[in-house]
Amino acid sequence: MEVTVNILVGTMTGTAQLCAQEMELALDDGETKVATLMMDALDSTVFSREGVFLICTSTYGQGDVPDNARALYEDLKARRPDLSQVRYGVFGLGDRTYAETFNFGGKRFDDILTELGAQRIGERHTHDASSGVLPEETALEWCQDWLGRVRERLSQAA
Ligand SMILES: Cc1cc2nc3c(=O)[nH]c(=O)nc-3n(C[C@H](O)[C@H](O)[C@H](O)COP(=O)(O)O)c2cc1C
Repeated sequence: MEVTVNILVGTMTGTAQLCAQEMELALDDGETKVATLMMDALDSTVFSREGVFLICTSTYGQGDVPDNARALYEDLKARRPDLSQVRYGVFGLGDRTYAETFNFGGKRFDDILTELGAQRIGERHTHDASSGVLPEETALEWCQDWLGRVRERLSQAA
């Protein structure tokens, strides 16, 4: 079964983008098509694209989404589209040093997407920058496992 994965990237200093690039390389094999989109120019209409969505975002400020993700996040909150057809996953980046707001960037997207009726596939990944583990390495294994779950879910629905 052909699956299209839209990776939406929220980043300040490029780490999430690097993870997205690694995930695109790992997943894009003909049967799985991957489109990686920086969140900069996006609004909530992006969720009308064909395929499933992978939110790949870091956290900034005091538990905020990165600057380039702000417009998309605010548009979802303001327009509140019905996203009941949307299936998504979250690969979040953060740092446990920020104990009170650890990985809130990914959490904020997860919360609003669920609120709007979208269904998450798999657990939200929460990378910790102070763990010493490189996120782009974790990303490979995580995304392959996630795609397996996506395929399982879509074949149940077919
Ligand atoms: C100024 C600043 C604020 C941050 N705030 C948070 C935060 O509130 N919660 C969190 O989990 N991580 C926080 N982080 C950590 C980043 O999310 C983490 O380093 C991430 O890997 C950066 O990814 P990026 O390069 O894609 O932006 C912060 C980092 C900086 C530099």
